[in-house]
Amino acid sequence: MIDKKLYIQTIGCQMNVYDSRQIESLLGQSGYRRIDTPDRADLIIVNTCAIRDKAEQKLYSLLGRLAPIKHRRPDTILAVGGCVAQQEGTALLSRVPGLDMVFGTHALARVPALVARVASTRARIVDVGMLSPEGEGSSALVDAGHEEISRFVTIMRGCDNFCTYCVVPYVRGRETSRPPDEIITEIRDLVAAGVREVTLLGQNVNSYGNKEGLISFAELLAQVDAIAGLARIRFTTSHPKDLSDALIDAFAGLKKLCPHIHLPVQSGANTVLRRMHRRYTREIYIDRVARLREKCPDIAVTSDIIAGFPGETEADFQMTLDLIETIRFDGLFAFKYSDRPNARARDYPDKVPEAEKSRRLQALFAVQEGITLSKNRALEGTRQIVLVEGVSRHSPAGAVQWTGRAPGNQIVNFSIPGTTAADRQQWVGREVAVGIEKGLLHSLLGNALL
Ligand code: 5AD
Ligand code: SF4
Repeated sequence: MIDKKLYIQTIGCQMNVYDSRQIESLLGQSGYRRIDTPDRADLIIVNTCAIRDKAEQKLYSLLGRLAPIKHRRPDTILAVGGCVAQQEGTALLSRVPGLDMVFGTHALARVPALVARVASTRARIVDVGMLSPEGEGSSALVDAGHEEISRFVTIMRGCDNFCTYCVVPYVRGRETSRPPDEIITEIRDLVAAGVREVTLLGQNVNSYGNKEGLISFAELLAQVDAIAGLARIRFTTSHPKDLSDALIDAFAGLKKLCPHIHLPVQSGANTVLRRMHRRYTREIYIDRVARLREKCPDIAVTSDIIAGFPGETEADFQMTLDLIETIRFDGLFAFKYSDRPNARARDYPDKVPEAEKSRRLQALFAVQEGITLSKNRALEGTRQIVLVEGVSRHSPAGAVQWTGRAPGNQIVNFSIPGTTAADRQQWVGREVAVGIEKGLLHSLLGNALL
């Protein structure tokens, strides 16, 4: 088989990272090897994100940067996949002259055949069907040789919730869960290849298996917890309306489940939550977090918030700031609202002006920064078990800094006395007790306690 070069760039969420790995594995079987720069690639794939306008714009500026390569080497196949591909379909071909192929979120398994067809016919191809029985390559391929100790594992795809700001149900389709056996086999294979931590992925993992009548998410977690050799389990994303008591109990009962939950609240005002179609109230959210903390006092809670949803008043926004102070999140992602194709809020009146959205976003960040910093400082003097991921890029000259994550997902940079970067093999993938000496805004600093 001739060796061909693949360059793949991923924009967006962890599910896209996972999908890109799948595509890479599938194309590996057709002789494609991944390279790290696009200029000499035979095949360039951009895996795209449509969640917010900004993510979509990223695709177009990237395509602008790739255009000279395609111009210089016209035989290079340029393909766009993922959510923007699904959303735009053929329109993308008209908009981007050098583009050879557009494949949607349900076409992963067909990518090698599509690429082969473009290579032999030079036809421009679009595949954005959503109902293919071939699915999106449900049986995942595990490729070793990447030396990562932490990997994503998709357990469900799509979403049935139709939050009014969200494009996901339109670009990812209806919710479907993978059978538990398939997930367990995939994780076992990853562990056999050296993986120590998995993050289970889905738009709404809490409703795993409900539709298909499979086991519940809490039951799936218990099965994953029993896999020998696996050290840690994480998952994302959770919907507050589906956060069951059984799942809350899992944080107390399962040894490998890390004490961290990403629980997007989106807004602290009930009127806004209602118009977002979130189906919980501020009070329910506060109650769920209290219950999590009661069962698992160390749990880190992170969240997403949208600033400037249509009709959000200053009073609504103050309710959101107040919620942040009430909950005291360990970390927060905040975004300016943007209209998305098909999403209902696009037609809502009373759009918040751009400058006001920016002001609110900055106010959210300011409040959260103070909280994150004080939470990280409160960890000074504690002992954290860190899963070593590698050598920190910010190592000061001569003194190697190791990096990994604490159970609560904080990044920890630390020293291990007497080690150099050459000791990588020996330390990566191990859990090490670290004494925390300094809490910063984005990380913790410490020393291994050996
Ligand atoms: N505008 C701004 N933020 C959005 N998100 C989803 N859709 C939009 C949108 N149209 C945010 C939500 C979600 C996160 C992944 O992205 O906060 O939780
Ligand atoms: Fe989008 Fe809501 Fe589904 Fe999350 S739960 S993917 S925000 S529609």
